[in-house]
Amino acid sequence: MSTASRRKVLLMGKSGSGKTSMRSVIFSNYTAKDTRRLGATIDVEQSAVRLLGSLVLNLWDCGGQDSFLDNYLSSQRDTVFSNVAVLIYVFDITSTEWEKDLHYFEDNVIALREYSPEAGVWVLINKMDLVDKDDPKRVQYAEYCEQVRALNARISADEPVAGSLRCFPTSIWDESLYKAWSSVIHTLIPNIDLITAHLTYLRDLHGAAECVLFEAETFLAMAKSGSPIDCDPSEFEELEVDRGVTRLDRQRFEKISEIVKSFRKTCQRTGELFTGFETEFGGLSVVLEPMSKNTYILVVSVDPRVHTGLIRYNLSEAHCHFA
Ligand code: GTP
Repeated sequence: MSTASRRKVLLMGKSGSGKTSMRSVIFSNYTAKDTRRLGATIDVEQSAVRLLGSLVLNLWDCGGQDSFLDNYLSSQRDTVFSNVAVLIYVFDITSTEWEKDLHYFEDNVIALREYSPEAGVWVLINKMDLVDKDDPKRVQYAEYCEQVRALNARISADEPVAGSLRCFPTSIWDESLYKAWSSVIHTLIPNIDLITAHLTYLRDLHGAAECVLFEAETFLAMAKSGSPIDCDPSEFEELEVDRGVTRLDRQRFEKISEIVKSFRKTCQRTGELFTGFETEFGGLSVVLEPMSKNTYILVVSVDPRVHTGLIRYNLSEAHCHFA
């Protein structure tokens, strides 16, 4: 891909729900603690983020105070809702005004379908760290998801090309944020099928269980070998089942994203350069290393005959396919 593909991403939701915080953690290397000093966003804050060298996200962080919200739906309606690839709508699970929040979400989806019918909608129910395991709000999460899905289905009923809606529980204090954002970005990468095919080929060449590609700056998981990155284990390929991928931790990608990003910050503080890692234990060989200027690759082998040196050699031969 020689020319950059530009995709507009709207970040919306009530004031204080955590929009700027998540954007800052994912794209500006903030820690969750750093976000406490963020002020309220005034009107729309636009930023451009380049990923994988050729995908430019135009992020529209829309301040959530009531006066701004009304403007988006009236005088700025066509400017805000035209040419949108994805709407990320952030709810605060601790909000005491769910009905009002839902009503506002409805107004936004109506405007979105009017100007960008094909846009995908990601609903992130944020601040999940503030509700305990036995808090009734945990149960309400599932109900909230059902309600937003039903609303979207009703609004989109007459729109044959309407994009899908996905729901995620998130918190800036744990890896759940990476899972949600990885799912968004994954759908925006123009040549994702080709990347997946290369990863699958590389996996088979190694006899590995899994090859995963991470974006170098955000460390979001972009694609993996075999089945799609966020598919249900029931949809795994036969080969993935045979090689035990179904038994791997389901949260492994987002955990790696979070761990590597915070480790890299520690390295920066101590003046060290993070270049990846490799390890062997219990018949497992794992290598994580840069694949191109914009990506890192993770290879997991479950074959005790395959050592990390061999994986690294194969990766060095494969670099030109990912450059
Ligand atoms: P506006 O700019 O007014 O629209 O607000 P916003 O949605 O951008 O909210 P912002 O990111 O400024 O976050 C408001 C506060 O919520 C900050 O103090 C964050 O630290 C906090 N916050 C954001 N996300 C989370 C989360 O997942 N958990 C917890 N506990 N606090 C969060």
